[in-house]
Amino acid sequence: MSTKVGIIGAGGMLQYHAAGFRAAGAEIVAICDVNKAAASSAAADLNIDNVFNDVADMLQKLPELDAVSVITPNRFHKPLAIQLLQAGKHVFCEKPPALNSLEVAEMKESSEAAGKVLMFNFNNRARPESYALMDYVNAGDVGVINSAQAKWIRRTGIPGFGGWFTNKELSGGGPVIDLLHMIDLSLFYMGYPDPQTVLAQTFNDFIENKGFKGPWGIPDVADGVTDVESAAHGFIRFTTGQVLSYQVSWAEMNKREEVSVTFQGQKAGGMIRRLFNVDGLDETAIDDCELYVQENGRSVNRSIITEPNEDMGRIRAAQNFILTIQGAETPLNTPDQALTLMKIIDATYESAMTGQPVLFPDAS
Ligand SMILES: NC(=O)c1ccc[n+]([C@@H]2O[C@H](COP(=O)([O-])OP(=O)(O)OC[C@H]3O[C@@H](n4cnc5c(N)ncnc54)[C@H](O)[C@@H]3O)[C@@H](O)[C@H]2O)c1
Repeated sequence: MSTKVGIIGAGGMLQYHAAGFRAAGAEIVAICDVNKAAASSAAADLNIDNVFNDVADMLQKLPELDAVSVITPNRFHKPLAIQLLQAGKHVFCEKPPALNSLEVAEMKESSEAAGKVLMFNFNNRARPESYALMDYVNAGDVGVINSAQAKWIRRTGIPGFGGWFTNKELSGGGPVIDLLHMIDLSLFYMGYPDPQTVLAQTFNDFIENKGFKGPWGIPDVADGVTDVESAAHGFIRFTTGQVLSYQVSWAEMNKREEVSVTFQGQKAGGMIRRLFNVDGLDETAIDDCELYVQENGRSVNRSIITEPNEDMGRIRAAQNFILTIQGAETPLNTPDQALTLMKIIDATYESAMTGQPVLFPDAS
């Protein structure tokens, strides 16, 4: 019997969730959006039979749903995920996991109490280049990664002014929380060590300047709120002695958008990257990944060739969720990892606010 899935949120990411679920053989039974017109239009485009504008109504009318994905603004991730888990559904939730680590801890507890899968869309882990590099890490070819540098930087990439992305109450923050993928990917390669100290600074230059708007995002809201950062820089020391520096921005004086992780392992270094020609346009981007080794007394750069993947692993990540429920694959991410990541995000904002490093109380 095929896995039956519902989807909440008919925005930009819906097409990727739908394609990934179907690639894994799941049946998409319903779409739910508070904006019923958006849900109806998406249902017609994607050939989905049932349309709802209320989640409780969907759960009551379709008890056969096995799993539901959440693709709403960040503010609604926690309450919806908990509602779904308590109704006995597996949950695939868009990134960021929630607004902060306290919310993620509650979501994790709910999933444990329900005995249901809770996964997040850290889709960059599902890129072909990420799988390729992880094969080398898992084979022991890289060794312990001492240090890494994570970047998701844009020159002109503010995703609309006054909509939910720029409203801290609805989003949790700006690029620190929106572009968390490369921090997550670095941690993934490093073995998700426990943070000991975070020192960070945020900036809000250009956050009201429409010249720094990205080519996509959501429409501007004239009287909306714009109270998030435009860029952040930080440094983490882990209890293992490993270190990670990170830079994220929607608007900053960079040459162009770059999405990358570089790492220095005890046996090999490595790099995964997406370089954009035009900020925010996936179709103009070039992906690559490399390993750096010393062989026969020479420096050797290994360029790893992978298949092109414009969607940044989004379809493959959704497919992994279904295959995880079915027991055919292991999950690409866990609630524990999401919790660690959100503690780092919380610490980034705290350090920027206090001007001090944040020490993790449990870290030894
Ligand atoms: N993984 C990625 O690459 C990626 C890229 C972009 C966005 N996202 C994430 O996807 C999520 C949604 O972003 P988007 O760009 O699709 O947003 P969007 O604003 O385009 O769409 C969100 C949809 O959710 C609906 N909605 C809002 N509150 C709701 C609720 N309580 N119940 C049901 N429906 C509700 C809205 O009506 C809207 O149709 C965000 O968390 C964002 O961070 C992920």
